[in-house]
Formats: sequence, structure tokens, C-alpha cells
Amino acid sequence: MNIPITKTIFGECEKVAIVKPLESGWVVQGPNVAEFQEKFSEFTKSKHCHATTSCTTALHLGLEAMGITRGDKVIVPSFTYVASANAVEYTGAEVVFCDIDLETFNINEELLEDLIKNDSSIKALMSVNLFGLCANMPFIMKLAKKYSLKVIEDSACGFDGWIGNKHSGTFGDVGCFSFHPRKSICTGEGGMLITDNDEIASKVSQLKDHGASKSDLQRHNEKGGSLLPDFTMRGYNYRMTDLQGALGVCQMKNLEYIMGGRRLCASWYDEALNEVAELKAPQTPAGYKHGYQSYVCIFTNGEDISSLTKEKIDKINLRRNAFMNTLEEKNIATRQGTHAVHTLSYYKNKNKFKDEDFLMSYAADRLSIALPLYAGMSQEEFSYIISNIKEALN
Ligand SMILES: Cc1ncc(COP(=O)(O)O)c(C=O)c1O
Repeated sequence: MNIPITKTIFGECEKVAIVKPLESGWVVQGPNVAEFQEKFSEFTKSKHCHATTSCTTALHLGLEAMGITRGDKVIVPSFTYVASANAVEYTGAEVVFCDIDLETFNINEELLEDLIKNDSSIKALMSVNLFGLCANMPFIMKLAKKYSLKVIEDSACGFDGWIGNKHSGTFGDVGCFSFHPRKSICTGEGGMLITDNDEIASKVSQLKDHGASKSDLQRHNEKGGSLLPDFTMRGYNYRMTDLQGALGVCQMKNLEYIMGGRRLCASWYDEALNEVAELKAPQTPAGYKHGYQSYVCIFTNGEDISSLTKEKIDKINLRRNAFMNTLEEKNIATRQGTHAVHTLSYYKNKNKFKDEDFLMSYAADRLSIALPLYAGMSQEEFSYIISNIKEALN
């Protein structure tokens, strides 16, 4: 048996839909992107949706449209994919890292006020809704209001994650999503920016399109389309193609299967891991709904991890890596959850960081393990994974 970390779910709808732009000849941002945006807007209950080339470019657009620029500082959790921090650097602003809560893998909101209150250069906060679980957005939004900070939600992994009836990415000024194959719904590469703010939305629509005051599709559908529009700002080309838009529309039509399947698989793990002391299953706080972009456990080795030191983390890390290798030999793919960005050479060297400067992020980097998760996993595949996990731990 060969078990991948995840699987993209493409069927007849995608195969038929992707050919249509080829036949019509309209392959750049067009009617399929518009429909994908409409469907995404309806699902997340957000006023404006803008499809982009990736979540990273959506984050860049969002930060720039919120007015973040050189001289500003933006708080970013230190355990996230490197793209969160990179997007801040694109604007010329400086990244201020904040440690996470190991229970949720999200930013530790208790640490925020101390960072913010003495530094007036901090203009925004990027919260990351990691692995499908929302950060404590109600708390973060209250704090942001108190200190007049902008909030951008990196919801690259946040699709179908909720607090009550509010979707991830709808709490802050801007939310950004990814449709990379490791994410729950996929358009190849691709991203989406959502906002309820009319001014930000109108800026983003221009910024992603070279700064043009009118899109190509608008121009082609209007009289006088032979003349180029005015360009009122310096923009980028971050537009999604209509081929990707066509995939996005089909993915949105198949959510019951894709997301239902992922949640079912997560519930199997929740039950089976009750018997595995070495793996701490992901937690979902009351009132939250997990989107399960990934099913990420902490490898505890059966030890008490309530007071971790770097030495203890490094010791358990050796065991985790050996465990992952054993599963790999059985053709079961696993991954570390994501990385502690302050330990990556670029950010480490630039800021002279030590691993233990953000200890919980370091622990999450060294002890996390994402298990295979996808819609359509068979009982047989699941039993194969669980029996090999138990055997590897013995
Ligand atoms: C938390 C987070 N932010 C941003 C990104 C970047 O997304 P994309 O690959 O669509 O640019 C990722 C991708 O893995 C991610 O996990």
C-alpha cells in the first residue's frame, strides 16, 4: 500500500470545465474566475472576493491595500509557513514574531499586548489560521481595535474553518486563502483575498491587475475597448487564469464530498489515537469548527510536555524523526506540521535569533507530525496507517 499525505480531488466536472476556456479562447481572468469568486463569497459570507495567483500574492496585495509600507512593523506568528513573513517583507515593512500556543498551533494571544503597547511602529497583525483552525479572532480583534491595528488573516489553510457561524478570514480587514495541492480545495496554484471593506476591495482589484482602472474583461465587453484604460497606481500581475477559475468552480460544487471526507477521516484518527499515548491529537476549542487542512499531532513520546526545554525538545525530536522514517519505509507519508520561521537561515541570520527565542514554535517545528488525510480514504488504508503507527511505536 502507498499512502500519500493528501490527495487532490478532481473528477468529471474539472475535466470538462478546464476544456471550456481552451475552446472559447478566453484563458485569462474571465467568467470562470468571476463564478469562482461568487461561489467563494457566498460560502464564506464575505462581501468581496478577489482570486489571485497564490495566497502569498493575496497577502502581499492585502497588506499593501491596507497601507502597510516601509517603516511599519507587522506581527506574525513564528510558527507558520515562511510565506506569511515573506509577504510582509515584500512591502518593506518589518516582521515582529510572536510565539504560539502549542495546544492550537496558533498565535499566543496572551503575548500580544506586551509586544504592541510599547511600539507605535506596529501597524498590523497577521494572524494565521493554521491547519484549518481559527486563531482566537474575537480576542485579537478586540486588541486590534484598542490599539488601532489593521488585521490580515493568513487563512491559506483556513478554508471551512469557523468560529460559530463566522468563517475564517472574515474577522480581520482582509483574509487570504491558498488553493495549492496541499490545501483542501485546489486550483493548481491559486489564492483568494476576501474583505468586507469596499475601499480595500477596489484597491486590490486594481493592484492585482497592473494598477489598471478597468479589467480586460470589462474593456472587451464595452464599446471603445480598443483603447487601453488609465493606470492610476503601480500594480502587479497577480491575476488568476480562467483555467484555474474553472477548477475552483468545480471544487466549490463538490464541497460536501471533499470536506465531509476530510472530517470523517479526522474523526477516525480522533478515536483511534485515544489509545496512542505517544501522539497528542489536534484540539478544537469549544465553539470552533476545524477545517482539517492537515491533521497535525504532537509527538510526545509518551512524556509529559507541559514544561518543555530546548534539550527535552531536541531529545524527543530524534524519536519523532525515527518514527517518521519508519512510516516512510512502510510507504506512509507524514510531514512536520510546518516550520518555525525564526529558525530558517534568512530570518535567523537577519535577526540573530536563537531557536529557543520562540520556544513553543521551536517545539511545534520539532515535535509536530501531520498524518495522511484526504476525502475518500478507505477503511483499509486507515487500518494500515494505524496498525503501522502502533507497530512503529512498539
Ligand atoms: C500558513 C501559510 N501561509 C501562506 C502559504 C502560501 O500559500 P501559497 O502557496 O498559495 O502562496 C501557505 C502555503 O503552504 C501556508 O501554509
